[in-house]
Amino acid sequence: MTSSRLPSSLELNAVARAIQARRRSGASIVDLTESNPTRVGLSYPKQLLAPLADARSAEYDPQPLGLWSARAAVAADFRRRGIVISADRVVLTSSTSEAYALLFKLLCDAGDRVLVPHPSYPLFEHLTRLECVEAVPYSLEYHGQWRIDMASVRHAISDRTRAILIVSPNNPTGSFLHRDDLALLAEIAAERSIALIGDEVFADYKLDPAEAATHVLAASDVVAFSLGGLSKSAGLPQLKLGWIGFGGPSDQVDAMLAAYEIVADTYLSVSTPVQTAAADLIESGAGIRAQIMARVKRNLESLRAQAASFPAIDVLRVEGGWSAVMQVPAVQPEESLILDLLENDDVLVHPGYFFDFPREAFVVVSLLGEPAAFDKAIARVLARAAGPS
Ligand SMILES: Cc1ncc(COP(=O)(O)O)c(C=O)c1O
Repeated sequence: MTSSRLPSSLELNAVARAIQARRRSGASIVDLTESNPTRVGLSYPKQLLAPLADARSAEYDPQPLGLWSARAAVAADFRRRGIVISADRVVLTSSTSEAYALLFKLLCDAGDRVLVPHPSYPLFEHLTRLECVEAVPYSLEYHGQWRIDMASVRHAISDRTRAILIVSPNNPTGSFLHRDDLALLAEIAAERSIALIGDEVFADYKLDPAEAATHVLAASDVVAFSLGGLSKSAGLPQLKLGWIGFGGPSDQVDAMLAAYEIVADTYLSVSTPVQTAAADLIESGAGIRAQIMARVKRNLESLRAQAASFPAIDVLRVEGGWSAVMQVPAVQPEESLILDLLENDDVLVHPGYFFDFPREAFVVVSLLGEPAAFDKAIARVLARAAGPS
């Protein structure tokens, strides 16, 4: 009775079943996939959420694109990252996931296609399918640094392609959009009236400031959307505030905004309290962001230091974001390594296949975890993934 937009089987996979069994047996699992910043022992100031109770929140003023004060605060936050955008080109959403859904409604008819990077964030499969849009992969390739394989982009494009999705820095490869790659993507997109959608939720977490990284709004001659939100930039996923910055030729942006307003007006999904509090939350989020950045750097250094004793394991270059990728000997299928780690070492990690890596064997860990537990669990992961000595 359900639609074909949903998966045909709702059964748990082998890893989910093993997690359930370990938890039922009373085992305490160290979760190295934890990407929820509110659960990793960071210190959130007690007064942080006080602005949500502002008296202005008692009044409902439905604005499809968001309250002006919040849009202006987000535009100012774009400027903090060096991106000049006016508040009338910023719209609010309840999350980045919702931003994708709204943009697909704006740009695509049923059966249209969007290009998605591989490896990347597994939610794209559902986000596209739920909107009756087809996700067509293009490849990122690792040659000491992850870069977009432009031949795969050209190959993936068809006359049904409506957008190219770019995640920068990408989850989980941690790679930023490179200036040269943006120039080529913009050329391809402009020629065919395809939009660029840049998921820049992790853009604040840049490990090497000297990196030749850029952002989609730098491509001024093509319609582009930059997605962000409090969930990553301020470590506040529970507040459900995301945003989209619109960029490109003025006449096209104006037309896009007018059409987008109809989509957003249908839902009016962003709550008033989070909008009235947006400016304060963005400001105080800087402290949480700094804690997350320090945690990510610390755990990455610890991972690298420990991995140095395991020559068979390569910790791939990370430019930013909250994850690290290890290439490990492919002596057993990724899934059996993940199950071994769960059942014998009480550690949960992600297999590369979860993110559509092109081959085995890769292991992905979140760098958010509490340091002492992280160090101990990583030691177990390295020892098992290195294989028999
Ligand atoms: C690349 C990427 N985009 C978007 C999201 C979701 O963000 P939001 O909480 O704003 O929906 C995530 C969450 O992990 C992510 O990794």
